[in-house]
Amino acid sequence: MSPEDFRQAAEQLTEWIIEYRTGIERYPVKSQVLPGDVSKSLPAHAPASGESFDEVLKDVQKLILPGVTNWQSPNFFAYFPANASEPSMLGDLLSSAMGVQGMLWETGPACTELEIVVLDWLAEMLELPPQFHSRNSGGGVIQDSASSATLCAILSARERATDYSSNENGCRQSLTAYTSAHAHSSIEKDIKIAGIGRKNLRLIEVSDDFTMRPELLEKAIEQDKTDGHIPFFVCAAVGTTSTLAIDPVEEIGRICRKHNVWLHVDAAMAGSAAICPEFRHIHKGIEYADSYVFDAHKWLFTNFDCSCYYVADRSQLINALSITPEYLRNTASESGAVTDFRDWHVPLGRRFRALKLWFVIRHYGVEGLQFHIRQHVELTQWLVEKIKGDARFEIAAPPSLNLVCFRLKGSDEQNQQLMTTLNKSGKMYLSHTRLNGRFVIRLCVGQTRTERRHVEQAWAMIKAESEKLG
Ligand SMILES: Cc1ncc(COP(=O)(O)O)c(C=O)c1O
Repeated sequence: MSPEDFRQAAEQLTEWIIEYRTGIERYPVKSQVLPGDVSKSLPAHAPASGESFDEVLKDVQKLILPGVTNWQSPNFFAYFPANASEPSMLGDLLSSAMGVQGMLWETGPACTELEIVVLDWLAEMLELPPQFHSRNSGGGVIQDSASSATLCAILSARERATDYSSNENGCRQSLTAYTSAHAHSSIEKDIKIAGIGRKNLRLIEVSDDFTMRPELLEKAIEQDKTDGHIPFFVCAAVGTTSTLAIDPVEEIGRICRKHNVWLHVDAAMAGSAAICPEFRHIHKGIEYADSYVFDAHKWLFTNFDCSCYYVADRSQLINALSITPEYLRNTASESGAVTDFRDWHVPLGRRFRALKLWFVIRHYGVEGLQFHIRQHVELTQWLVEKIKGDARFEIAAPPSLNLVCFRLKGSDEQNQQLMTTLNKSGKMYLSHTRLNGRFVIRLCVGQTRTERRHVEQAWAMIKAESEKLG
């Protein structure tokens, strides 16, 4: 593609993107296609000769767009958000254009150093304890997902607990790990990947508010010790997936200290809220953590992927993951003066993801980010009051930040039907969970462009549809 063709195509694409994003409310939030519809509409074989960008873009509109669930719609309230913003998109585009592969400082000095600086900014914005800053013993790194970051935490914990022998000999010790019964499924997946064995993950029961019960955690650790196991890893959730419940990190942390167990804090969704001082209580006890993760790609206006993983002692992470073949040796690494992020996660290669985060923080400023997070929480609280004030509905879990779990006072089937009908309408998208065996609808306010009118409209539709159910 010549520079002139690129200019034309980029202008065309930019126009398309602006049109798409400004008109996004025209499209159904949840894609209405059936399985196989998209693939059926595409040719079975690659074109033998090149096609014009114009043709490709036409097919995006005609064949791809109907199969897109519009996560960026202001009426997207399902799961947790993946909120993107224009500055973030521009940062990502620039990263693609530079095509830097920053596995080593040597292969990407700016890629490495900007990431260190931006993650230190973020640590300050969230008021993380000093040990998580790069100027001290720890530091942060951008990973592709919270799932991968938690895997790194488990691997570091496994190595620390086995005196760095598992990497050499395989894990022969009987290690045991702990998390709450409401923790994200990625913990279990990572435990399997790390060779710990799913049966060695203890799912600790939760209280009525769906937070981990620390006394049961301690009991489980003590029982395992008595039985000859080595408790090595605890994951506390700051914001569980079903209800955004905040585990009592301080009490959990004290137990971990006492028993010399690694504490990982999974704040994938809720962590972003801590940029507002009034929500920082969610991090109470975080000083006990060995590692911490939150997803800027969920609620910090940065498009996927951008998981921010922090460690209190970087040497433990590096010792667990570092491996140096001859072809990666270089003077800068050997001088000890630089950070090589290849040692901070599973993949070797890495994109210049710090650019998008840098663009986002500089565009909004800390105050701008705080404003939007506060607005999401405020809108959620507004909705909570509306639900509480309507005798046909009940709140199904303590409302937390920007998530409300509710249900129609009726059968599971009625609730399921209510959600399915609303999602089929294309006007909004909700998801569900099951609490104490009952079907519960989740509504999370976190999209970049969600305003009061969208939440008001959602509530009006929920009420109208539930009336039809009788
Ligand atoms: C609490 C929690 N942890 C981890 C994850 C996994 O996130 P990721 O997609 O970044 O792996 C999620 C996803 O929703 C989550 O809610």
